[in-house]
Amino acid sequence: MLTNHEEPSLSPELTPQPAAGGALVPAPREPRQPDLMVPIRSLGANHRSRIAAHLKELNAHDRYFRFGYAANDQQIQRYVDGLNFDRDEIFGIYNRHLKLIAMAHLAYSDLDRSQAGAEFGVSVLQHVRGRGYGARLFERAVMHARNEGVRTMYVHVLSENTAMLRIARSAGAKVERDGAESEGHLLLPPATLDTRVTEMIEEQLANANYQIKLQAKFIRKTLNAMVHGWQPGDPDRRANKRVTIDK
Ligand SMILES: CC(C)(COP(=O)(O)OP(=O)(O)OC[C@H]1O[C@@H](n2cnc3c(N)ncnc32)[C@H](O)[C@@H]1OP(=O)(O)O)[C@@H](O)C(=O)NCCC(=O)NCCS
Repeated sequence: MLTNHEEPSLSPELTPQPAAGGALVPAPREPRQPDLMVPIRSLGANHRSRIAAHLKELNAHDRYFRFGYAANDQQIQRYVDGLNFDRDEIFGIYNRHLKLIAMAHLAYSDLDRSQAGAEFGVSVLQHVRGRGYGARLFERAVMHARNEGVRTMYVHVLSENTAMLRIARSAGAKVERDGAESEGHLLLPPATLDTRVTEMIEEQLANANYQIKLQAKFIRKTLNAMVHGWQPGDPDRRANKRVTIDK
């Protein structure tokens, strides 16, 4: 994972300015700048078991937020088994141990993307929250949906889900509250050359990053096996072996 630890700096026009009479007027909110580069992969059906493992790691409260009810393991498994990787898009963030630490599901309402709305659902494992992964997955989904010709993206959220509502609002979504539930919808501008090229590059970087992690994991495993499998051995046997080779 590539990270940029620089603090995003506020431009002068976004810092609170004293109004006439000295009162501080809240500054307009700066659109969120991506403060870290996160390799986000588009996942295929071969990632199904990791998706299931990721979702089953969520606690009851998170499952309630993610699915709108406290799904049990069987219900999560049914959801994962039913994922349609041809129609929908699943994005994931893997850590260096190739554990799926964050994922998003962009579900299309229609096979014809230009007629479709897309619903966004996301989850980030507890120990890596607050690092911007949720927001980055949302941005990635927005870019993908635009490139697919989708005009509206939706998110159904429980009204108490502050973090998800912040993500949606920061991206410009209009949120309407209906009691315990809220719906955010974001009108998407058409794709541009920039969104198309950016998505292509991001996908390639994420794939390369995944391959590197895969190889690093293999090397770590091999070294571990060598270290643990190594036995001091019998000096006589080693001496005999050397004699055999010398012959
Ligand atoms: C919602 C969720 C995906 C957020 O993931 P995350 O990676 O922690 O989110 P980010 O780090 O991108 O933070 C996004 C915003 O929410 C804010 N935030 C994060 N956690 C918060 C919390 N507990 N309370 C209030 N705001 C919070 C962040 O400050 C950030 O706001 P900012 O852009 O104004 O700084 C994660 O909490 C989660 O997986 N929850 C369980 C499942 C769920 O609720 N899914 C959403 C419904 S589909």
